[in-house]
Amino acid sequence: MNSRLPISGTLAAALTASLLLGHNNGVISGKNSVPLGVTTGYPSCGSCHNATASSVVHVDITSAASVAPGANVPMKLSVADNTTYTRGGFEMETSAGTFVASANTWTDKTVRGVEAITHNDSLSRAWSFSWTAPTTPGLVTMTAVGNAADGDDKEKGDNWGWYGSDATLPGVPYRIFVNEASIVSAGDGCTGADGFKPVLGIAKAPAVNGTWDTEAYNLPVGTPTIAILGLSNTFFGALPLPLPLKGIGGGDCVLRVSLDVMQVAITAGRGAGGGSARTTWLVPNDTTLRGLKLHFQQMTVDSKANTFGFSFSNALTATIQ
Ligand code: HEC
Repeated sequence: MNSRLPISGTLAAALTASLLLGHNNGVISGKNSVPLGVTTGYPSCGSCHNATASSVVHVDITSAASVAPGANVPMKLSVADNTTYTRGGFEMETSAGTFVASANTWTDKTVRGVEAITHNDSLSRAWSFSWTAPTTPGLVTMTAVGNAADGDDKEKGDNWGWYGSDATLPGVPYRIFVNEASIVSAGDGCTGADGFKPVLGIAKAPAVNGTWDTEAYNLPVGTPTIAILGLSNTFFGALPLPLPLKGIGGGDCVLRVSLDVMQVAITAGRGAGGGSARTTWLVPNDTTLRGLKLHFQQMTVDSKANTFGFSFSNALTATIQ
């Protein structure tokens, strides 16, 4: 607290302002005395609440992983800690697209112009809302911070932290891929190391006499990963697809495409869930291939995912143009 004395006047003014503006009703970066960039670094909620993020906090986000351009995507954000209190709040920001508020949330732009959503009362620890994907394909990243409050309407004593496997690390991205319009989602992936679910996306449709990429995210760093192209998503030899892998220790993982062509890469990146891999594919100059359906899934060596030792992404189906 001593280190704060020089700025105590500012802090008192900030607290007064936030009380007057009903801080309980939401927090947007850079507005109502809230610091800039609350989802990506200090001081964040700690400028008024406990100074440091707490490792007992867990901010979780769930939604579809790989979506169509312009899609309306239901999302859920929850915050938990090691107490039985039931109050809380959050702020989440997105690199693209727009949030659509529900009854207990509201949206705004931060002072830097970033799209954001927050709580409008502190009565819950989970919020359902939606997000409209941008029309431009590509990776979208979201960052979030949550406060697991003790409900005493005071700023001290609450546990707060950032989204990710370690709530004390700011700015860990939640990733959603926006696919090219003709790409079809064909089933979910399963959770791998540190709670990250691999995301597979395609930003450009395959076309005769051209190359395009599949992109995989949310993977462990420095591990072999296999991009699978299958000509079928109903049979792999005699085996019917999708094939649940529970029986061989694969947990919730499901093989969704036949193992016809595979390309191996080593994931690059930093931090938990920060690994990614891009795989380039080629369609020969043969117009009879137009209309052929190609099925994709990413399989990654991940000893923490399950006893089988692999995680699996969502599956996608592309049609050669
Ligand atoms: C400018 C100071 C300030 C900042 C920054 C701040 N808060 Fe608060 N917050 C307060 C004060 C003061 C209270 C208690 C009075 C009130 O509820 O208005 C409070 C209360 C709350 C409550 C209700 C607590 C309860 O016990 O019911 C929640 C939830 C909350 N804040 C969430 C957040 C989140 C999430 C952040 C970071 C994104 C944040 N706050 C950042 C000042 C702040």
